[in-house]
Amino acid sequence: MKIVCIGGGPAGLYFALLMKKLGAHHDITVVERNRPYDTFGWGVVFSDATMDNMRAWDAETADAIEQSFAHWDDIELHFKGRTIRSGGHGFVGIGRKKLLNILQARCEALDVRLVFETEAESDADYPDADLIIACDGINSRIRSKYAGIFRPDIVTRPNRFIWLGTNKLYDAFTFLFEKTEHGWFQAHIYKFDDSTSTFIVECPEHVWKAHGLDQADQEQSIAFCEKLFAGNLQGEKLMTNARHLRGSAWLNFQRVKCEQWSHFNGRNHVVLMGDAVHTAHFAIGSGTKLALEDAIELTRQFRQAGDTVEHIPAVLARYQEARAIDVIRLQNAAWNAMEWFEVCGERYCDQLEPEQFMYSMLTRSQRISHENLRLRDRGWLEGFERWFDARSGLSAPIAVPPMFTPYTMRSVTLKNRVVVSPMAQYSCVDGVPGEFHLVHLGARALGGAGMVVAEMTCTSADARITPGCPGLWDEAQRDAWKRIVDFVHRETDAKIALQIGHAGPKGSTNAPWQGRGENRPLEAGNWPLLAASALPYLEDSALPRAMTRTDMDRVRDDFVRSARLAATTGFDWLELHCAHGYLLSSFISPLTNRRNDDYGGLLANRLRYPLEVFRAVRAAWPQDKPMSVRISAHDWVEGGITPVDAVQIARAFKAAGADMIDCSSGQVSAEQKPTYGRMYQTPFADRIRNEAGIATIAVGAISEADHVNSIIAAGRADLCAIARPHLANPAWTLTEAAKIGFTAIDWPRQYLSGKAQMEANFQRERAAQALKP
Ligand SMILES: Cc1cc2nc3c(=O)[nH]c(=O)nc-3n(C[C@H](O)[C@H](O)[C@H](O)COP(=O)(O)OP(=O)(O)OC[C@H]3O[C@@H](n4cnc5c(N)ncnc54)[C@H](O)[C@@H]3O)c2cc1C
Ligand SMILES: Cc1cc2nc3c(=O)[nH]c(=O)nc-3n(C[C@H](O)[C@H](O)[C@H](O)COP(=O)(O)O)c2cc1C
Repeated sequence: MKIVCIGGGPAGLYFALLMKKLGAHHDITVVERNRPYDTFGWGVVFSDATMDNMRAWDAETADAIEQSFAHWDDIELHFKGRTIRSGGHGFVGIGRKKLLNILQARCEALDVRLVFETEAESDADYPDADLIIACDGINSRIRSKYAGIFRPDIVTRPNRFIWLGTNKLYDAFTFLFEKTEHGWFQAHIYKFDDSTSTFIVECPEHVWKAHGLDQADQEQSIAFCEKLFAGNLQGEKLMTNARHLRGSAWLNFQRVKCEQWSHFNGRNHVVLMGDAVHTAHFAIGSGTKLALEDAIELTRQFRQAGDTVEHIPAVLARYQEARAIDVIRLQNAAWNAMEWFEVCGERYCDQLEPEQFMYSMLTRSQRISHENLRLRDRGWLEGFERWFDARSGLSAPIAVPPMFTPYTMRSVTLKNRVVVSPMAQYSCVDGVPGEFHLVHLGARALGGAGMVVAEMTCTSADARITPGCPGLWDEAQRDAWKRIVDFVHRETDAKIALQIGHAGPKGSTNAPWQGRGENRPLEAGNWPLLAASALPYLEDSALPRAMTRTDMDRVRDDFVRSARLAATTGFDWLELHCAHGYLLSSFISPLTNRRNDDYGGLLANRLRYPLEVFRAVRAAWPQDKPMSVRISAHDWVEGGITPVDAVQIARAFKAAGADMIDCSSGQVSAEQKPTYGRMYQTPFADRIRNEAGIATIAVGAISEADHVNSIIAAGRADLCAIARPHLANPAWTLTEAAKIGFTAIDWPRQYLSGKAQMEANFQRERAAQALKP
């Protein structure tokens, strides 16, 4: 085959040499606009795993790289005058020049034609090539030429960064954080040979501008960075090798992905590779890894299918298919890591103490969990756990995982950070919780969670979602709830909370198993509905009436009555339901609130009534007991509530006296398009906690102890609410403790003989798992 690689970066050179190894008869040319060894940039990083992969494909290249690379295990943080170091992270750093040098020499040895100082204007320059590899980097000309076919999605990110070098040597992947009068800067530093380290400086656009760096040339920028990090550099200089960039050398990262990776232009097959088809932010240091792995995959496909011209179309299709999932996974992790560095100045630097800041930084990609950190560096993690324990008021002889630390709000102390999330059971008669609720809530309170939140309990008969929903507006209901609360307090050490709410436009509907299912109107026995505006939830929902001021007074007073009754039952905690499109939520979201009085329009107006209800309830609820508010932090609909609004909503409730925000999302509009995934709502809890400065509950697809530990330890939330896993297993918390080998947890005395057996079974499973290759 006649192959031309446009671009002599890692992707082009490595693919050229691998294909030449696969078949010496292939005629392969690499066209590069730069001179040999003339490149922008300093060192690149990849992981031990990439090295293993490379060794399997070309031992000579891997050997040469191994002789020149710097390997290190540790990550070191310098923050607020402290230095914190953790190990076991396994990186390889190598100078980009050195890497290209090795790949170029190997190409020459294998007889690949290297053509330097030649600008490839277009794929049309190579009409007789069977295959053209467009590995021409992030600004790929070939990708732009066929943009209609490759359909690139390019996002320019807000932070500014400058890629510098220094002769100061660092023996760990080092992160420096410095605060200036205009905001925070961070430096990402890693050694890549015996005399040089890469030194990338990054900050948000507004901080960069406030310092006048948009007007600064390279010398001035370097002088600025040297002064900023003088305490660490201790007289060492920073250097640039990006002299070819005109003016300022500060860049914005561009995330590139493409829908289609290859194209037949009528004469040749053209395929994208490396940065030309996808980029990954340097916060995860994997752009070169991706480029090298693309080269490996395309070669693998030729090896499997046959490296002759007729196989090209099938090979190119399979190449994209095989790479796409890995690439997306890595890009997602890189995105999370990148976002962390974009927001850290605003969200974490001033808020978190160094220990927790380090934890948050290490888990920024959300690919590394609590137990991964334990595997990497048990000593560091246990030290962190002890620090966290002490902060939570524990002085246990062993390190207690964050999930099992106590939490105090007002006069209430929860024994751990797990909450049974409120879940409607549709099993009451006349709003009275009966035997089902005693067993349901009682079992979950025995199951190890710190607190059980009873389902949305309605403030009047016409506030119910379904006829089976519980209420708290009369004494029969009060007595029934008291029986449950007393059971929980007498027989368990869990706390019990009540969630009060009004169904609003989503009322008078079926239980999920009745008629046409949930959210659909009852076939008979309907009641009139109230809402912020006269808008139905579904097309065939009953039309609610827009509330008048008289309605508002009545409903507010109903909430207050429920709160007073709840106080007499002994509930420990009260939650106000302002989420999911129910009455109070219908005021908050612009999708459901179309009022043009004082209660509609801007967010401050839309919050007026929910805040009025909150204040009235707070005044009626005992001062020593906590109150949380559940909100939908994202409507998942264009024009609806966004996480930015959610921070404002949280601030407003905090100012009104709320102790905590329970961060749910959605169910406000039938048009919603949520992005589900593991812990998918936790970013809202994180943002609200650290931007609005109020404690939060994370909820949604949190399904194992490792999730809870990571969330609590990183300061993304204070409590985790777990719903569906508690339907399957009332003793979810006890089970998860046994699963991770945490045995210092109390079981109900009646169940104690089950404890050791469960722990031993999980212990055996863990041992078997550890033996697996
Ligand atoms: C600040 C920063 C830090 C980074 N750190 C890391 C890291 O730690 N680890 C890591 O793995 N990656 C890192 N990267 C990313 C990494 O540099 C790229 O992902 C990687 O080089 C991609 O390889 P490539 O071969 O696809 O593209 P490139 O390395 O960009 O190579 C493309 C080549 O094509 C040439 N070219 C372009 N157009 C033409 C044309 N028309 N004619 C002829 N030649 C042309 C260019 O001169 C260039 O040599 C970092 C990037 C930045 C910006
Ligand atoms: C059967 C069921 C009933 C629910 N009822 C309520 C409720 O009454 N009040 C509420 O705020 N959320 C309710 N939810 C939402 C849960 O509290 C929780 O936010 C959601 O299920 C996501 O958590 P999970 O992924 O752990 O299930 C309910 C969820 C389920 C599955």
